[in-house]
Amino acid sequence: MKIIRTTRSMAAWSERLRREGVTIGFVPTMGALHDGHRSLIRAARLRCDALVVSIFVNPAQFSPTEDLSAYPRPIARDRALCREEGVDVCFEPTALTMYPEGFQTTVTVPVLARRWEGEARPHHFAGVATVVTKLFGIVHPHLALFGQKDYQQAALVRQLVGDLNLGVTIQVRPTVREQDGLAMSSRNVYLSTDERRIAPLLSQALQAGKQMIVGGMLDVAAIERVMRQTIEQAPTIHVEYLAVCDPDSLEPLSVVSAPAVLLGAVRIGSIRLIDNLLVKLPGGKSGLRVERGIKPLTD
Ligand code: PAF
Repeated sequence: MKIIRTTRSMAAWSERLRREGVTIGFVPTMGALHDGHRSLIRAARLRCDALVVSIFVNPAQFSPTEDLSAYPRPIARDRALCREEGVDVCFEPTALTMYPEGFQTTVTVPVLARRWEGEARPHHFAGVATVVTKLFGIVHPHLALFGQKDYQQAALVRQLVGDLNLGVTIQVRPTVREQDGLAMSSRNVYLSTDERRIAPLLSQALQAGKQMIVGGMLDVAAIERVMRQTIEQAPTIHVEYLAVCDPDSLEPLSVVSAPAVLLGAVRIGSIRLIDNLLVKLPGGKSGLRVERGIKPLTD
């Protein structure tokens, strides 16, 4: 496995392979790789001839009060996982390489970024959209994979790739969970034993909401009430939002009339956890958008 640190060498490597007709798969990450990343890497490995994983803790998507300096950076372990999974290139640029002096462009996807995570973290999605656009420009992949765990991020990437004709196929892969349902996340390592014990309540709440919809309940207020009650069993979890939304626009629904996505964010101590579940209506059509060669979000 090659480790590449400069944008010029990365771009040159990709262009050479593209000229030879090789298809390039790409999994962008911030490192601290877990089984969720592993499943993205494996899916990309199966679909492409060559595979690039980027490891870059992107300062532009953290606010000054967030955990940038404390973000886990187990680089030796990350590289070992990449080697194990047959990754061809680990792209590990520095912050200065990605944002040299004089850098001034920002990519925004204002409507999709407005609610939910965007409300809690106002500059986050501009940072994500900018770095993903930049990474696509450098790595120039045919296919890039994202996890459904960050549902709003995946929707936003899909939008920007279409809007800017970036020519990258985006595939979103199902969330990988711990045995008790907790969605895998690099931030789970911050949870204390007590916090870890109650963290699965978020996925349990979303499951409770999903069961209600599958059972025929269409009243969003009632569904949201049950999801909130599930979480409030533990007084130390604070609900940031629990919502039933349109799976493409992420606008909140008041009545479940089509496929929906249940989105949730909670805070346990200083740690924010997010999760989501897609729900199809029983007997209904999938309703998920399949366009621009982009696969639907699935759960
Ligand atoms: O999901 C992540 O790890 C990051 O937001 C991403 C897509 C690698 C951009 O920094």
